[in-house]
Amino acid sequence: MKKIIIALLFLQLFCIGCTHDPIEVSPPDTRLNWFNDAKFGMFIHWGVYSGMAGKYVGPSLYGTEYTEASPFLCNWSAEWILSQAGIPRERYKKQAKNFTATQFDGNEIASLAKETGMKYIIITVKHHEGFLLYPSIIQPDWCTSISGANGRDLIMELLTAAKSKGLKVGLYFSQNLDWMVEGSLGEIPQLYGRKYDIEKNRTYINYTCKVISEIMDRYGEILDVFWWDIPQINTSQEFTNQLQNALIKHKNYNKRILQNDRLSTLANGDFATPEGVIIQKPERPYELCITMDGSWGYTDYANNKKTKLELLYEITNTVSKGGNLLLNISPKGDGSLHPDALKLLKEIGDYMQINGESIYGTEHSGFIHGQDFGRVTRKGNSLYLHYYVGDKVELYGINSPILSAKTISGRNIEYKKIPNGYKFIGLKKGEVAKVIFSSIIIDEGFPISNKMKETNLYAMSALAEGGLSINGFESGFVNYNSWINLWPDLGWLLKVEDPAKYDIYTTISNGGPGELEIKIEGDNNAYIYYQYPTTKGYDDYQEMKVGSMYIKLGKQEIIFKRVGGSPLNFASMRLVRVDN
Ligand code: GLC
Repeated sequence: MKKIIIALLFLQLFCIGCTHDPIEVSPPDTRLNWFNDAKFGMFIHWGVYSGMAGKYVGPSLYGTEYTEASPFLCNWSAEWILSQAGIPRERYKKQAKNFTATQFDGNEIASLAKETGMKYIIITVKHHEGFLLYPSIIQPDWCTSISGANGRDLIMELLTAAKSKGLKVGLYFSQNLDWMVEGSLGEIPQLYGRKYDIEKNRTYINYTCKVISEIMDRYGEILDVFWWDIPQINTSQEFTNQLQNALIKHKNYNKRILQNDRLSTLANGDFATPEGVIIQKPERPYELCITMDGSWGYTDYANNKKTKLELLYEITNTVSKGGNLLLNISPKGDGSLHPDALKLLKEIGDYMQINGESIYGTEHSGFIHGQDFGRVTRKGNSLYLHYYVGDKVELYGINSPILSAKTISGRNIEYKKIPNGYKFIGLKKGEVAKVIFSSIIIDEGFPISNKMKETNLYAMSALAEGGLSINGFESGFVNYNSWINLWPDLGWLLKVEDPAKYDIYTTISNGGPGELEIKIEGDNNAYIYYQYPTTKGYDDYQEMKVGSMYIKLGKQEIIFKRVGGSPLNFASMRLVRVDN
């Protein structure tokens, strides 16, 4: 950088007295600096659906009449209730009275985000239900003005409170899909799942541009992020340009405003937003958004509640791979939060308060595979070891000398060299060790040698490709009931010092019989196919011998894959050396 500045100064001097214009040099793109450093943000899904809490009583477009005795209950994300239950538009409108916001205080939410260690907030100004969280002039009949929230500008209340506390702010906006407005792109419940024709789409996009304009009139001066959604239903260049221009040609637009990659299939945006799947080797900034219980919108009965360890895993796992984690909260229709959610946020906040240094401003750790004890984050030559699972802290894949090893609060941590890594002694679960190395050169791989009779490979240290979730943390279990990708791979890198034959065992549970494969990448002879029997449900983990294989010398990636049959929970794989 210094060199460039000096070269530019020379060029400038040289040009004094020249007749042509000075050379224009565009400043380095610093727009994403805050975003890259932030690492942790709050997502808020709030709308009319929140007041319904995942339950609907009344007629459905799909033919059923739901009653109190037999109501419709969302079986997946509750902000989709209009579409899931097939609620006629006129009936849905009536639900707005239950969106009261009486317990909502922008200051409280902003403080909560801050106390949880979040650096920015993204709130839904309009989700697929089309309802606007402010008193709109363009859409007066479907905004807070006609709801129990009596025309409050909930967006401004939150944004100004958040800004005053130093947080960055953004708006989620469902531009392509709007179930309540004629002409929307996508499949429309009111049309029994059919789509509007292109002319109607045009009218809708023109209308949506006016809404964007109104949003920019009101909040454009303070916005830091514009968060589009449902790109897959917009493949049109014309619509993409129109929507994009509505934002960036507005008088209040400022280059500061970052956009995600969900405007359409033709727009890249400033950062990527993989859904449910982590990017292992990101090429550009990304943000992973997750729920606390499987639903973005509030439900009374969400049964997928995450634990503190799961959230800690999701945060440190994403951050260790250079991404940001956007954690969703789902306020009720009155704006209050479920006590379980508040408790979880408090626990995460406590962790962040002590260990924030190991999260904010960090970069990709350089490790692609995981660690059995938790995750590793990195800042320069320091690695931060987040220890929250298992009974030992062994870091494989780095051999450079250690200059110092302490907890973040300053207690010395003992360490000793082990093959291809270090073992750390005295770190307690829930603590983070800051280890300063003389340099960071990463050479991943579990050492496998004839000194070891057996090797255990746990879910936590696998490279998990595909959308799976990790749960059952105490034992490092991976849950394979993923909805994103039914057939994810788990991979471990082995550093084999002497080749040998191994018997292979896996510990799994399942909901029925199925098929799995174990193979070594690039070695056709190292392959096992196994049909697994039923265990007594997902809590009943059983060890099964699946076969034997010869593992060659050098670095080998061993892969575990479910290829058919019932989903399974994976706990571990055990390689037992067969002496011959
Ligand atoms: C999907 C869902 C939506 C949710 C979003 C969050 O696009 O349709 O309900 O808001 O993911 O990323």
